[in-house]
Amino acid sequence: MCGIVGFTGRENALPILIKGLHALEYRGYDSAGIAAMTEDGLRVIKTRGRIDALEEKVREAGGLHCTCGIGHTRWATHGEPSDANSHPHLGGDGKIAVVHNGIIENYLELREHLTARGYVFRSETDTETVAHLIADLHKESQDGDIAKTVLRAIHRVRGSYALGVVSLDRPDEIVAARRDNPLVIGLGDGENMIASDVTAIIRRTRKYMILDDNEVAIIRPDSVQVFNAFGEPIEKEVRTVTWDMSAAEKGGYEHFMIKEIMEQPRAIAQTIQPRIRDGQIVFEENGLTDDRLKKANHVHIIGCGSALHAGIVGQRVIETIGRVRCTARVASEFRYENPIVEPDDLCIVISQSGETADTLAAMRQAKEAGAFAIAIVNVVSSTIAREADGVLYTWAGPEISVATTKAYSAQLAALYLIAGRLAYARGKMNEEEQRAFCDQLQALPEMLEKMLECKQTMQYLATRYHNRSSVFFLGRGLDYAAAMEASLKLKEISYIHSEAYAAGELKHGTISLIEDGTLVVALATQPELYEKTVSNIREVTSRGAEVILIAGSDFSGDESACRHVVRLPECPALFSASLSIVPLQLLAYYVAVERSCDVDKPRNLAKSVTVE
Ligand code: F6R
Repeated sequence: MCGIVGFTGRENALPILIKGLHALEYRGYDSAGIAAMTEDGLRVIKTRGRIDALEEKVREAGGLHCTCGIGHTRWATHGEPSDANSHPHLGGDGKIAVVHNGIIENYLELREHLTARGYVFRSETDTETVAHLIADLHKESQDGDIAKTVLRAIHRVRGSYALGVVSLDRPDEIVAARRDNPLVIGLGDGENMIASDVTAIIRRTRKYMILDDNEVAIIRPDSVQVFNAFGEPIEKEVRTVTWDMSAAEKGGYEHFMIKEIMEQPRAIAQTIQPRIRDGQIVFEENGLTDDRLKKANHVHIIGCGSALHAGIVGQRVIETIGRVRCTARVASEFRYENPIVEPDDLCIVISQSGETADTLAAMRQAKEAGAFAIAIVNVVSSTIAREADGVLYTWAGPEISVATTKAYSAQLAALYLIAGRLAYARGKMNEEEQRAFCDQLQALPEMLEKMLECKQTMQYLATRYHNRSSVFFLGRGLDYAAAMEASLKLKEISYIHSEAYAAGELKHGTISLIEDGTLVVALATQPELYEKTVSNIREVTSRGAEVILIAGSDFSGDESACRHVVRLPECPALFSASLSIVPLQLLAYYVAVERSCDVDKPRNLAKSVTVE
């Protein structure tokens, strides 16, 4: 949800900023821009469109040379994607430039105040108010100390922000500030950077600091100083990026999405292996003790989008084997549902990025109500990971494609781990049964490997069905949960309208949309539901639908009504959701490729959704 980057050092900052923006493009890609401290003053170049369009514009401008600058890639909130609304925004008479990720809630009030003071607004954005506010307050500065001005400005601002500010008064200095939006400071040798996440700095350095809420930092080529909200200097922990650069590259694949789909066996192995020892599930790192699992009266699972879908699978698994009340909840609705959360309840918070604003807000509320919050997160040291009571990292490696695949699968694996230990702690599984459960879980990466062998079949099916305008996904129980994720995958990257339905529910209205040639993808992986799902398949085929069936290995129902059947490798029914999603991720991927869609960066989306 908008990416920001900044560099100050001795080399030309321009290519470094552009590379950084490319790395952050997954956060938003409506428009892009840079502000550069050149010998001729502060130059801003920005444009609607992708980073490539920005590069073109820079070339047309004859290039730029600077050793200090900031850049931005935007996911529009206030104001349509346009050149004028692109960041950076200039404040006052153009001596200050600002890039921003977040939302300034009192921007109208500030805008009125600043307009009355003679400032002229050139965009519809909330960010421009911050630029003018800083310029206005900076007029009173005696010593040109822009950091002090930024600190004063943020006390006047309500909302969320990660800010990068440069000023002509201090041409080699970047000032950064943060509240509820991520910002890291990359520490180099004679150069330093700021960025929304480490993918933008890793080509230059592996050492970084995390700026926390209400802190302000001054970044110069040879120094970084961080201050708290009262302007007092503070020490920050220096961290090191541990993953390999190749994890953030395509490695010969055409898109990140297909690379990440193929990486799923490893992603789930990395989530499972460290937590199984001698046939027991062990949670050493996160405070998820047996006592806590036993005491919980209610398990709440919170997430958005695919993370929510993982949670819906988790709900079914936890209730099935743990026999405790479990509710998967839409994070953005959590606050408005007046949920009954009590001390000792367990709250499982799922987020790949660890930065999703709605999920974070819901987690804070659950914690306030006394629940123990365990976060299933992929990005190390992200806000949700740091604020949760305990973290279960998914270790899927960086996920670059906007549509999640391997992180989703790793979330499922983490939920199976929690469900298994919870069932054991509550006496619903004995030691022997836990051992068998662990064996099955450990076999999952190999089963996924086998499932991936359907790649060519799914590619073929995509060539046949990519031109459909509407697709329905049907399933019961765990298959319904998997259908929701399959439907989201297809619609978000191929722009084909699709819906997931509980197979028995379709006939209560929506079946009127089924007509000749409608594509229906049915999932039937739960033996006790085979017959009922077959009846539902018959209901749609008799109305003209063409059905692709994703079936359990021992599917024994009548498949004669289906055009194509894709079978899962042999696997316990409880784990089928981890397998059945794979062919449907592949189908979505190949359909999007057939339709020439921008697979890794679907329109209107951003990978990290840091606004509510
Ligand atoms: C869909 C997708 C999104 C995310 C959702 C939550 O492919 O990736 O639906 O799952 O935006 O994001 P995180 O997991 O980062 O909280």
